[in-house]
Amino acid sequence: MGNNIKFIDLFCGIGGIRIGMEKAGFQCVFSSDIDEECKNVYEKNYGERPQGDISQIQTDEIPDFDILCGGFPCQPFSISGKKKGFEDTRGTLFFEICRITEAKQPKVVILENVKHLIHHDGGRTFQVITTKLEELGYVVTWEVLNALDFGVPQNRERIIIVATKSTEFDFDNLEKEERRNLTDGFLDLEGDFEFLDSNDYTLIEEKLRTRQLKSGLIFAGYRNKSIRKVGVRPGTEHLSRVHKQPNRIYDAKGTHPTLPSQETSGRFWVLVEGRVRKLTIDECYRIMGFPDDFKRSEKLSNQYKQIGNSVCVPMFSALAREVRSQLFCGEKDNKNEKNEKRIGIC
Ligand SMILES: C[S@@+](CC[C@H](N)C(=O)[O-])C[C@H]1O[C@@H](n2cnc3c(N)ncnc32)[C@H](O)[C@@H]1O
Repeated sequence: MGNNIKFIDLFCGIGGIRIGMEKAGFQCVFSSDIDEECKNVYEKNYGERPQGDISQIQTDEIPDFDILCGGFPCQPFSISGKKKGFEDTRGTLFFEICRITEAKQPKVVILENVKHLIHHDGGRTFQVITTKLEELGYVVTWEVLNALDFGVPQNRERIIIVATKSTEFDFDNLEKEERRNLTDGFLDLEGDFEFLDSNDYTLIEEKLRTRQLKSGLIFAGYRNKSIRKVGVRPGTEHLSRVHKQPNRIYDAKGTHPTLPSQETSGRFWVLVEGRVRKLTIDECYRIMGFPDDFKRSEKLSNQYKQIGNSVCVPMFSALAREVRSQLFCGEKDNKNEKNEKRIGIC
């Protein structure tokens, strides 16, 4: 597979997107992140230190490329409702994406964000994003994808936007895997586990623990911390919805909730064989689909924060493969012939 299709990795973090893109045969020619700790990890893994604050980088400092990738932080847009062209987004990081896209005219722009982006600021933020990309001459498609459909047991929904110059990207062709509901298949059998003292949590009755939610989560109990009291009907205090998400404990026989990005100490408690323990950091990287030999930050708090901020690697690999197949191979896959066509991927 030739490596002649080039991409840039904006807001690169620790490079989860880069792994997926490189697996599909794309070549990274530029990366940027403002966070020095992320840059250290990125440099250790890819032998290249990302540039810093993207707002300070001139477009002529960026080499030419075919695909712009960016998992950008979501910010509100200040001027409500009115069509103000680029002024609408000025001062936001999305503006930087528009600025680079306008100057460099890549064939494809791939953006990743939290699912909530769709509803942010009453839907206006998302509308501004799609409208701006259209104004720049792109056909915009988007889809909410769940890591559960890409071989990992994590209920992690992310919005993916694929903007193209001509052919519309078809998300329906994405190669998905059967959902794996078992977190415990991804857990270490032995290790230096941090168990919760049995006085510090309450398990709900075993017969109630068989109820698996649509997301594959099995609510097993809660840490003995505060619960929501307002509006809670008497006798329903055991239900998951009255407990704050970080205090909920899920059964490792189900899926795992989204690894959060704001977390620096880890709050991922699972019920495994009758005992409650914290997910180890190795297990967190595994359920994001990172390779075992990925070199992490020296500090555990950074490791937790960085993995929560990153992307599910197999999901991005599947997306990158499909982008290559549909947009760079000169033919569109027919769903029924998908596998045969992929064998000869360009
Ligand atoms: C959601 S994370 C993206 C993580 C990445 N996709 C990964 O796989 O690790 C957003 C990143 O944007 C970076 N960032 C925020 N402001 C920035 C700026 N002005 N210039 C460059 N990077 C910035 C943050 O440091 C953070 O790493």
